[in-house]
Order: sequence, then structure tokens, then C-alpha cells
Amino acid sequence: MSAVQELMRGLAKFDVLAYGGEAHRVGRQELARDESIKDTISSLSALAADVSNTGSVEIDRPTYNLIEVSRLFLEAQDYIMAQEKPRYEPYAAALVLRHILGIDGSHDLAVTRRKIWSVFEQKVKEQIAFDSAAIAGTADQEKVGFCPQVARARCEILQTVRQIIPVRTELRVCPSRPVDRSLLDVAGESTGTSAVRSLLVFPQTSCHDEVSFLHAIHMSECLFWGSLLFVQRTLAALHSGQIALALPLVIMASEFAAPLVKLFHSVRKMPPEHFLGFRDATGEASAVQSLSWQLLDAHMYGVIPEKTEALSAAPELRRVLLLATPSFVPLVEMMQHLGGSAAEEAVHERVVELDHHLRGWRKFHEKQLAGRKDPGYLPPDAPGTGGTAGYGYLASQTLPPALRFDGCTQATPPKKASRSAATPH
Ligand code: HEM
Repeated sequence: MSAVQELMRGLAKFDVLAYGGEAHRVGRQELARDESIKDTISSLSALAADVSNTGSVEIDRPTYNLIEVSRLFLEAQDYIMAQEKPRYEPYAAALVLRHILGIDGSHDLAVTRRKIWSVFEQKVKEQIAFDSAAIAGTADQEKVGFCPQVARARCEILQTVRQIIPVRTELRVCPSRPVDRSLLDVAGESTGTSAVRSLLVFPQTSCHDEVSFLHAIHMSECLFWGSLLFVQRTLAALHSGQIALALPLVIMASEFAAPLVKLFHSVRKMPPEHFLGFRDATGEASAVQSLSWQLLDAHMYGVIPEKTEALSAAPELRRVLLLATPSFVPLVEMMQHLGGSAAEEAVHERVVELDHHLRGWRKFHEKQLAGRKDPGYLPPDAPGTGGTAGYGYLASQTLPPALRFDGCTQATPPKKASRSAATPH
């Protein structure tokens, strides 16, 4: 039997629904004590890595995709099972999500945009369905710390988030199709809907709000990636003098950033004691390790000096540090080089809007989540799970002055454009 056949057999035998059910019931931290599950995941993960490394000309696109989704999923589970302290990417299966979104694929940008919005919408609906089932008493499992008032308030906010999705995404999987059970079927389902539903959310504990927290992370990741892709293209268009092309691109970047603050309003509904019920079990996982956010931040504002230490400490973020060079011009700085034509002013206006969304998100996160007091989400002066000074790290960050647009106003006096806007993406 070839390695590919052996892998397919292993994936067909792996009941990912049962695995997910157990992770939700007892928490993955507890599940990691089960040596038999640990061994199964470890050997299947090694086999998937082996097949993926070896490559094969006979493998067609759908099979390649199936192997990649399975490999990334298994690698994340294996890491969590084997390591004492989770990190952000395996904790949130962030690399599986990135693959499903097609961030590194060769798809047309319009296709990727649609894909990101449709996955985002699926995640919003899943979270609403999760809370709604618990409210109605029809949930598969009874979770720890469920509070109907919190769930209701969160659903209400998320319904308004749904309404600002700019792309209508239709259901892509036949509703009568039975839910896929094996990893082979889930990873092989061609639209990715099944993988989004079954391969992303594996809480460390059995706390209700940890599931909501993971959904919020996935929604945020969709928005960070979407915004980043369009900021990168906007920079490239501006750099090559294609102002008319830059306008729709920055509008789409801003659309992705628009729901971020509202999403945090829904996170803020979680009482601090619920957060503290699962925080320790997330180990060293912190979104400070989120590549999508750090790249977005750097493309907008440059790598700000207060972050260098945190970025250097996270191996996941090596790519971001490549942008810490004087030859890289971030979008906000690029505005200083725009002229006063109608097209340039229109672009400037939209960059101001995008800047506004991102600053709003930042301030909400810093003051209402990390810096919230009485009761606070974090004990005073507590370090972050990502190894930074926590609130102090977030509060120390100084961005370039906020952009304004009043037809001709710019944040700082114009400078001569001499640096490259090329991105290493
Ligand atoms: C109650 C909820 C939350 C609290 C108390 C909180 C707290 C913190 C803290 C203390 C840090 C500092 C880094 C470190 O861990 O060492 C951080 C970083 C970060 N958090 Fe949160 N967070 C919360 C929810 C979220 C959610 C749902 C997201 C969505 C992805 C998120 C995204 C981020 C990002 C992107 C960073 C890095 C910021 C940067 O380096 O610019 N946070 N958070």
C-alpha cells in the first residue's frame, strides 16, 4: 500500500465528529491525558506530514487540498496534545482557517474576498446557533458557566454584525447532506464548509464562553486577513501610480475592518469570571502571535518600535520583522505622498476611514478588554499569555498621528516619496 493510500485509510477511520464531541464535553486539556487518542493523532499527523513533504505528481488538486487540510488540522491537534502550553496558531487552528480562506492560494482576488466573507458569515451564524441552542435547551452538551442573558446579548450584537456583511453568500452545501463524520470526508468536502464547521473549534475546557471566544477569534482572523490582502494591493496600486485602481481596493480593505469593533462589543458581553475560567488552560496562546493582525498592523502603520521585542520573541511572526526596514512605506505614511487630484482625495478619504476602524478596534481592546477594571478581565499588572507586559504592552504602543481628511488636510507635512511600497507577501 502506498503512503497516500495508507493516509487515506487513516483519515477515513478518524471520526472527527466524535473527537470534537469529546473535546467539547471534557475540554482538550483533559482529552490530552488519553494516550490512545494522542497516539492516533501523532502517528496520523506524522504520516500526513510525510505524504505532504514527499509530494506526488499523481495527486490531483482536490486530493492535495484534502491532504493539506488534514495535515494542518492534525499538526495543530498533535501540538496541543503533546505540549504543556498551547500557542495561538494550534489553539485556534489558525493555519487550517488560513488554508480554507485561500490566503496563500493563486485564486483571483475577487474569489478570495467572497470566500473570506462567506466563511466569516458561517462563523457568525455558528456562534448565534451555538448560543441559541443553549438558550433553547437543545444543545448537544451542557457546558460550564452558561448564562442565558449573556448569550442573548451576544446574539443580538452578532445579528447586527451579520447585517453589515457586504457580500451575500449563499449556502454552499446541500442542507439534506448528512454531516460528515470522518476526517477524510470533512477535509475532502469541496466548499470548505464542512472543515469550517468541524476542524476549527476545540476548546481547552468545557466552558461555554470559551467556545464563543474561539468563534470570535476566527471571525477576527477572517477580517484581519481580508483587510490585509486589500491593504497590500492598495499599496501596490499606489506605488505603481494606479490611483483609480487603488480606490476600490482600499474600500474593500475598509469593509473588512468595519465589523471589528462591533465584534468586540459581543466579546465584552462575557463576564470576566467566565474568561478566567478558561484563560489558564490556553497556556501561552495569545493573539499577539496572530500573523494576520501583525502583518495588517505593519502594512498600515509600519512596525512600531514598542512591538519589536514581542515580534522577535514569536517564531510565527518572522515575516513581520522583514517589514521593519526604512525601504518599506506603510499605507498611512503613503498618504503623505498623494497629490490633490479628485481620485487621490477619494483614496485618502477611504484610508482615513480604514485608519478609524483599526484605531477604534485597538482602543476598545486596550481599554475595554485588556484594561477593563472592576471587575477586570485580568488581575492588575498581570502579564499577557503571550509573554508581554499585557495591558502595559498594548497601552505603550504609539501609532503615527491619526489621519484626517477635510479635502486637503494631511497628518504631517508631505515628504518626497522615495521608498518602496513593495511588500514581501
Ligand atoms: C476578554 C478578552 C481579551 C483580553 C482580556 C485580551 C487581552 C490581551 C492582552 C493582555 C494582550 C497582550 C499580549 C499578550 O498576551 O501578551 C492581547 C493582545 C492581542 N489580542 Fe487580546 N484580549 C482579549 C480578546 C481578544 C480577542 C477575541 C481577539 C481576537 C483575535 C484579540 C486579539 C488580540 C491581538 C491581535 C493582540 C495583539 C495586539 C498587538 O500586538 O498589537 N484579543 N490581548
